[in-house]
Amino acid sequence: MDYKELHFVEIDSTNKYLKDNYLSLDNFTIASTDYQSKGKGRNDRIWLSNKGENLMFSLLIKDSYLINLGGYLSLVAAISISKVLEDQFHLKDVSIKWPNDIYLNGEKVCGILLEGQLPHYLVIGIGINVNQITFIGEYRINPTSIKLATHKEANINDFKRVVFDYLIKNMERVKQNKDQFLEYFDKHNYLKDKQVSFILNSKEQIGIVKGVDDHFNLLINYENKEISVNSGEINLIKEIL
Ligand code: BTN
Repeated sequence: MDYKELHFVEIDSTNKYLKDNYLSLDNFTIASTDYQSKGKGRNDRIWLSNKGENLMFSLLIKDSYLINLGGYLSLVAAISISKVLEDQFHLKDVSIKWPNDIYLNGEKVCGILLEGQLPHYLVIGIGINVNQITFIGEYRINPTSIKLATHKEANINDFKRVVFDYLIKNMERVKQNKDQFLEYFDKHNYLKDKQVSFILNSKEQIGIVKGVDDHFNLLINYENKEISVNSGEINLIKEIL
């Protein structure tokens, strides 16, 4: 299956572009850009990225089977990017922080924002720090980039092709066997066996992350029971040694 790329030198937000135009665009249209003037992050945060130094794009999903997978698609996206980082750059310490941040050596290298309108479409927005080495401004989690980890400049166009290729192939694979991605996630689950705080019945609670279920809900050991958490903020409080 093919994709179609629309590249913008500058745009407000590639997620917004696809959301505004989804009716006239095909499934697997990718909007990419060198610079976003209003890049959107999760939970109404902004996504900051220097012009031309990073990869920013959004993928439009109109296939109804894929739309029904909902948040599971951001796992497929996170796994695709992680695998590119491992395969192309031979990076070792790549992990996925549930639900969909990618960490390199414990710092954030990629963020994913899933938006859409069910049952019509989904947009998966992805920002990957590639060649940026200074990060000015406030970041909740320390940012890093591929260049900071490899000490080499990456060719963004070559990288982009490989990322799109892995991503679209995995979108096809998930239709054949949805659960094949869970094993990879388990091996790259940044939160596994770590203590986290989470909100249950409007109260902050503390538990230990065990894994995810097949709907990609986080499984937490809490007061000797296993509970599943499907959204909201999970804050890492400290690692269990
Ligand atoms: C996060 O908060 O970690 C998610 C960040 C997602 C950023 C990407 S960059 C391309 C796409 N367009 C946007 O406006 N946001 C996403």
